[in-house]
Amino acid sequence: MKTYLVTGGAGFIGSNYIHYLFQKYGDDVYVINLDKLTYAGNLENLDDVATKKNYRFVRGDICQADVVDPLVKEADVVVNFAAESHVDRSIGAPDAFIKTDVYGAFILLEAARRHGVEKFIQISTDEVYGSIIDGSFKETDILEPSSPYSASKAGADRLAYSYFVTYQLPVIITRCSNNFGPYQYPEKLIPLFVTNALEDKSLPIYGDGKNVRDWIYVLDHCDAVDFLIYHGKPGQVYNIGGGNERTNIEITDLILTYLKKPHTLKTFIQDRLGHDRRYSVDTAKITALGWVPEHKFERAMNSTIQWYVDNRSWWGKLKSGEYREFYKANYNKEL
Ligand code: NAD
Ligand code: TYD
Repeated sequence: MKTYLVTGGAGFIGSNYIHYLFQKYGDDVYVINLDKLTYAGNLENLDDVATKKNYRFVRGDICQADVVDPLVKEADVVVNFAAESHVDRSIGAPDAFIKTDVYGAFILLEAARRHGVEKFIQISTDEVYGSIIDGSFKETDILEPSSPYSASKAGADRLAYSYFVTYQLPVIITRCSNNFGPYQYPEKLIPLFVTNALEDKSLPIYGDGKNVRDWIYVLDHCDAVDFLIYHGKPGQVYNIGGGNERTNIEITDLILTYLKKPHTLKTFIQDRLGHDRRYSVDTAKITALGWVPEHKFERAMNSTIQWYVDNRSWWGKLKSGEYREFYKANYNKEL
């Protein structure tokens, strides 16, 4: 039985990953979830596993060596999801991004170096490559991150690599495309637009809305990460993608059509600063190992939209009070 230390396990992808682990391994896994519970961390995401004997939640910061050290010592595998993850916030206030995404990763890597682990998975992102108009990025392409968020992720990505080269720490780095699914904080495109539409509010599309993202269902990302723990080669980077490139307008239309809401809710607003036009990754490397995403885009999108319809109590709280005020004040748009 392996012990997994999952950092950022109370966030969107981390909580889906913990569900995935229990679904896959049942009682034959021990999961420690280390999460600071920032605005993006929500223990409600894990209500159904909270009392399991093979699960433990630790509230703590990955930047704090004394918190991290004993947990890494206990772990066979570390999967580092913990991060500040929203590009818009990184434009207004980059500090926390540098602290958590770079320094936090450093603290985890140092603990792993001290104690030794079977695998250290650094969850990076396709955004580290920057924007691409034609074609798709390969793992060997140069990194040209363009937001403080993606630059902080690139820093951690390369730092993790250096721990493989310098100390032979068995690090694997994943660069996944945009995820969608349940439990995503309603400030990101899909949950923001679904919940706004449900409240008959406008959907604020940046610029001309023709920016392209490659969307992957979150459980496919989780499956790829776990696959790489067993089949990936230490020191290697792996792109992960869904193969579903869509413009933001296409995503918005799909949401409005599913919810039978008027397309006049679409509102074009001032573009995001430094807004990357298109992300696209070449996934031949992970495909060659035998991994492909399972979920079909349209069906997974529909079930995701329906999840937000059915779980109003989950997002209703997040879209009220102080967060709404924060959003209005900082981004001049409704959350
Ligand atoms: P999220 O913002 O929903 O969750 C981040 C979690 O990390 C939260 O639970 C938060 O409380 C926790 N956290 C933040 N700072 C921390 C700290 N200092 N110590 C401990 N915990 C801390 O993010 P997400 O969308 O689930 O993304 C998870 C990871 O996947 C991130 O590393 C992100 O860069 C990466 N990623 C995300 C996507 C995507 O589409 N969402 C795509 C590729 C990669
Ligand atoms: P987002 O979900 O923030 O992910 P990322 O910027 O990391 O790809 O945004 C996805 C796309 O949607 C991106 O091109 C920006 C756009 N977008 C809007 O047009 N309006 C919004 O309110 C948000 C949050 C995003």
